[in-house]
Amino acid sequence: MQHLITPNDFSNDEILELFEDARLFHDLQTNSLLAGKLIVTLFFENSTRTRSSFEIAAKRLGADVVNLEVQTSSTKKGETVEDTVANLNSMKPDAIIIRHSDCGLPASLVEYVDCPILNAGDGKNAHPTQALLDLFTIYEHFDGKTKGKKIAIVGDISNSRVASSNLELLPRFGLKPILVSPKKYQVDSVYKTTTKLKKIINKLDIIMSLRVQHERHDTAILPEELEKQKQNYAKKYCITSELIQDKELLILHPGPVNRNIDISDEILKDKRSKVLQQVANGVSIRMAILKKLILQNK
Ligand code: NCD
Repeated sequence: MQHLITPNDFSNDEILELFEDARLFHDLQTNSLLAGKLIVTLFFENSTRTRSSFEIAAKRLGADVVNLEVQTSSTKKGETVEDTVANLNSMKPDAIIIRHSDCGLPASLVEYVDCPILNAGDGKNAHPTQALLDLFTIYEHFDGKTKGKKIAIVGDISNSRVASSNLELLPRFGLKPILVSPKKYQVDSVYKTTTKLKKIINKLDIIMSLRVQHERHDTAILPEELEKQKQNYAKKYCITSELIQDKELLILHPGPVNRNIDISDEILKDKRSKVLQQVANGVSIRMAILKKLILQNK
């Protein structure tokens, strides 16, 4: 049984095959490849894009989707997530998609199921479908010529599952990451790390801007102090026209964007920013992933 817990669960060849399918699904035609299949989603953390993207992908393939409302589920009565998942598994779903704040939880659930588990984000650990859609967006933009392209990953690297999954995936396709963040969000890394975005801007082909994950910082902080921190962060790391001028760059962000802190209003509208293209690609890539994991288990 193949699951998707981290991007390393797929080989490069498998990923290139997913891209071929994603291209076919790109016109987002509804089809019946997964007709009669049942997909359960369990989102224990907030989500706009990932949850709707998975649901739309499943429905475009003709599958039925059950979204368990975790706020009103029995985990609120003390049931463990493992027991919830084992019970759902008894109802014979064809895939279970889960997002949870505990790092490693999706991996620990595989022994309770007879269907693929898809990790839709576990704490700061991994977000494989986001990294795959990011790579797909980059791959299509550069016509497959990703080797040697320099990408700055800008933001709260230490708390971002998007950063960690991209750092696992992008170098496998020859991309060269540079980690850009204030010292307090840095991690020990084999990749070049800097606090100064302005200094490296001329070297870059791609900027991946990330949100500061305030919900994962445990220090209680006054709203005014938080606002001050955000403005200080924006001064050094917000992607603005003053910073990038007329450079040829691909600008990405997984969303949700904190406008004028992560990326300016102006740059979000700029044609170099492919943030909404990422969202569109997310549906196609998730269609390809669901098709692969579910149909190969027949
Ligand atoms: C991200 C997430 O939830 O990890 N968003 C997403 O899935 N598109 C990034 C974030 O929350 O900042």
